[in-house]
Amino acid sequence: MPAEGSTGFSGPQYPGRITSSVIIACCVASSGGLIFGYDIGISGGVTSMDSFLSKFFPSVDQLEEQGTSSSQYCKFDSQLLTLFTSSLYLAALVSSSVAATVTRKYGRKCSMFLGGLTFLVGAVINGVASDVLMLILGRVLLGIGVGFTNQSVPLYLSEMAPAKHRGTLNIGFQLMVTIGILIANLINYGTAQITEGWGWRLSLGLAAVPALIITIGSLLLPETPNSLVERGKNDQAKRILVKIRGVADVHPEYEEIVAACDEARAIKHSWSNILKSKYRPQLIISSLIPLFQQLTGINVIMFYAPVVLKTIGFGINASLLTAVITGIINVGATVVSILLVDRAGRRPLFLWGGIGMFLCQVAVGALIYAQFGVSGAGTVIKKLAAPVLFFICVYVAAFACSWGPLGWLVPSEIFPLEIRSAGQGITVSMNMLSTFAIGQTFLSMLCYMKFGLFYFFAVWVVIMTLFILFFVPETKNVPIEEMMLVWSNHWFWNRYIADEDIIGNRYSNYGT
Ligand code: BGC
Repeated sequence: MPAEGSTGFSGPQYPGRITSSVIIACCVASSGGLIFGYDIGISGGVTSMDSFLSKFFPSVDQLEEQGTSSSQYCKFDSQLLTLFTSSLYLAALVSSSVAATVTRKYGRKCSMFLGGLTFLVGAVINGVASDVLMLILGRVLLGIGVGFTNQSVPLYLSEMAPAKHRGTLNIGFQLMVTIGILIANLINYGTAQITEGWGWRLSLGLAAVPALIITIGSLLLPETPNSLVERGKNDQAKRILVKIRGVADVHPEYEEIVAACDEARAIKHSWSNILKSKYRPQLIISSLIPLFQQLTGINVIMFYAPVVLKTIGFGINASLLTAVITGIINVGATVVSILLVDRAGRRPLFLWGGIGMFLCQVAVGALIYAQFGVSGAGTVIKKLAAPVLFFICVYVAAFACSWGPLGWLVPSEIFPLEIRSAGQGITVSMNMLSTFAIGQTFLSMLCYMKFGLFYFFAVWVVIMTLFILFFVPETKNVPIEEMMLVWSNHWFWNRYIADEDIIGNRYSNYGT
């Protein structure tokens, strides 16, 4: 029963090809991922710069310089320092539910624009910050921006793309996230060399560049046909559909969107409706996938790679450089997932990625144990650094082929129109909440759980891989407004789908 290798989907495929206008629109929209990625990459590097620490977090700086911490594992354990990184995620958590309403009522473009603009203001405040308060205020604005763009961009991409290429085009978002992280890592590597101590200002202030790209880009984009129909602009929707599909006859797909929209209109309150039994599969999957994505432990590497590597004995430059290397691997492996996602499907990538991450976490935990033991008092054994780095790189590659892109793709493609925007809001909130929790607790967890932390994440990877195996059906090639058929065909989720959800409505023609 859990054999879900193929979609089992017997519904329609609509005419159309992948056109240059859809590619351009998706590339521009994906740039929304740049701001998210830039921030992920920049915070880790900045929080390991001495000039930044001594200005805003003098206690951490002293602890580190005097080497007064009794354990290597606890060198950087400061709640205020982690709050700097994770405050953004709290703000994004709250703003993504507001974004859900804006996206539904005023369109996907509007949310992207607002997100870009708020992020821009936050970047400027951070670049000129003179105290911790300004720093945190700036980060809250960045967070609001990320909440808006992460809510609207994946949804925009999934709606614009033809079903057969939805995976590829949607992962454009994650590709931009990884490019943002890499650029940030490179910038940090450069600004760390500025001896006058203002390098961190440049790192934080330059976030304005990706913010400008998505702010201006969003003004130039076409709106999605689904959102236009949702807001009663049917003629415009048809014109855009003809343009992006590259065929004159878009009637079947247009009719499908209109039908989905009529159903959506009958539902007034998407937030309360999402709790109905027939949406249970989507609700559970779209809440658990972002939670699991964070429980892979990826942001331990993304936020704290320089700090972790410094902890295990790399010099500051070596650790920033290593962050650059993992950044390059992250981008490269995301490209691999783009090539595979619509051919192999989502499930094989999830499963293989999970196995790869598990093996690497076990290996890194063992190597760090060998180096520092349980007390953390050991000294650095240089020859262990290379294998640690090797396994970290393979781990990042496994994540970037699987949970990285799919953690955003799958939730954005499984909701029916009537609850899509609210559903995506839940996904972003869940992702941000879990990122916040891990960002906020990681340095303390490292201090208390020591090398065991890597085993903690490894156990979660086993749990999430089993979850995919049994509960997440294949969604490749299924048109977005036809997704209900996937649940009704699934060995477990079909119990939530009543006959009247399928028979008697528009799905009944397609041999379920
Ligand atoms: C995740 C981020 C992570 C990034 C790494 C994204 O999909 O949501 O939390 O830092 O991938 O590439």
